[in-house]
Amino acid sequence: KVRKYTFNQVVMKNTTSLCSSKPIVTVNGLFPGPTLYAREGDNVQVKVVNNVKYNVSVHWHGIRQLRTGWADGPAYITQCPIQTGQSYVYNFTITGQRGTLLWHAHILWLRATVHGAIVVLPKRGVPYPFPKPHKEVVVILGEWWKSDTEAVINEALKSGLAPNVSDAHTINGHPGKVSNCPSRGGFTLPVENGKTYMLRIINAALNEELFFKIAGHKLTVVEVDATYVKPFKIDTIVIAPGQTTNVLVTADKSSGKYLVVASPFMDSPIAVDNLTATATLHYSGTLANTQTTLTIPPPKNATAVANNFIESLRSLNSKKYPARVPKTVDHNLFFTIGLGINPCPSCKAGNGSRVVADINNVTFVMPTTALLQAHFFNISGVFTTDFPANPPFRFNYTSTPPSNLQTTRGTKVYRLRYNSTIQLVLQDTGIIAPENHPIHLHGFNFFAVGKGLGNFNPKKDPTKFNLVDPVERNTIGVPSGGWVAIRFRADNPGVWFMHCHLEVHTTWGLKMAFLVDNGKGLNESLLPPPSDLPKC
Ligand code: C2O
Repeated sequence: KVRKYTFNQVVMKNTTSLCSSKPIVTVNGLFPGPTLYAREGDNVQVKVVNNVKYNVSVHWHGIRQLRTGWADGPAYITQCPIQTGQSYVYNFTITGQRGTLLWHAHILWLRATVHGAIVVLPKRGVPYPFPKPHKEVVVILGEWWKSDTEAVINEALKSGLAPNVSDAHTINGHPGKVSNCPSRGGFTLPVENGKTYMLRIINAALNEELFFKIAGHKLTVVEVDATYVKPFKIDTIVIAPGQTTNVLVTADKSSGKYLVVASPFMDSPIAVDNLTATATLHYSGTLANTQTTLTIPPPKNATAVANNFIESLRSLNSKKYPARVPKTVDHNLFFTIGLGINPCPSCKAGNGSRVVADINNVTFVMPTTALLQAHFFNISGVFTTDFPANPPFRFNYTSTPPSNLQTTRGTKVYRLRYNSTIQLVLQDTGIIAPENHPIHLHGFNFFAVGKGLGNFNPKKDPTKFNLVDPVERNTIGVPSGGWVAIRFRADNPGVWFMHCHLEVHTTWGLKMAFLVDNGKGLNESLLPPPSDLPKC
């Protein structure tokens, strides 16, 4: 079935939140933007018409885009941006996936307000591998700045320092009851006694991992990043920007109002933000003046609460939904990720230096021609293929690393043979401070086979990897001062971005791309670009 969304007008809209108004970039005037519904197997065509002063591009986060990298969306990676007054039709088929994902702008910091849900239902007649919920509700977590977000990051880049944090977190666009703006109650979720609801929770925030919980109610986790997991019950989930989590909630009280909270998780010593967004679970028949049952969100450094959730995740790995974990490895990669300091004579506030970020000591430089075009049309001089498989030098990454380690800069990609298998260890470094990094890989799902604190030990740690039912995702939190190991198969030809989904870290250069060669078979090569592909 072909689903055409020809309504995606990108326009400015004056929007009020937290007792203040500002013009924001929106899709169709909505914040959050419209939900895109489809079924597994559908061909989706979304025409994006740009009517704002910024260049735009839209990414379908987590959609595999098998052979259709031209529709992936990251600006200057798979396409040149859509210029003001222009349009582009994103045309892709949803193959072998169903669940909750998100779409968002993939240029500048426009993602702050240009985002929405993607709901991919199973093929007609195919049930969920859990009891059918009474209703399904999209819950989008986000952030709100009183000032213009482009001004926030431009200011930071000029000074060399970190940008301001947001003024509030939001649940479906609303901060809820916050002390400095008491007028709004926030998002309300109406429920009926005895019924079960599926919440499709999405973290669309720019820079914040979030806890999510509901007073008096357990969450049964059934899916993350549009892959089914073995169901388990828990009080609090943690969700990083770019991640999605489906939970079942049974309304097992007879009546009442129950507080829903979304609060930051940042087990980093330099994090400064601690605002909780609230919403309300409201039982039908409950009187309006009933007191809301409250709950206290975990403290922002509650690593144990986060780990309790993360370590409970397992692929469903059933007959129908097997976990196809690569058992052998062709490319064995070790990438350090972290922040560093580079000289910047013009950075006054930063005392002549600026914060940067890197992978294997390379701070990625955005090209001015899209990498995928350069690859497909053999345009030389746009990128090099010498991205290192290992960091240039080894040191103790998590205890006392060398201070002021300077990065190199370049537009480097790592080349993968089509259909080869990859093991990639992502090691956090503590050069400025250990930080959480939710790393997102475009074009693939991967299996999270191992995780640990401190330095990865290449002899001992792999013996403990889970190659049976590890969770399958597209975005994974690398623990602060630790590492994760992922495995995937390079079965998608093209150029695929990988980056930290904290937008500030991406801006600072925590990004790179994989180039996957064409396969030899008829159905293994990248398709040619559509004729309306934007030009740089
Ligand atoms: Cu959700 Cu490259 O991003």
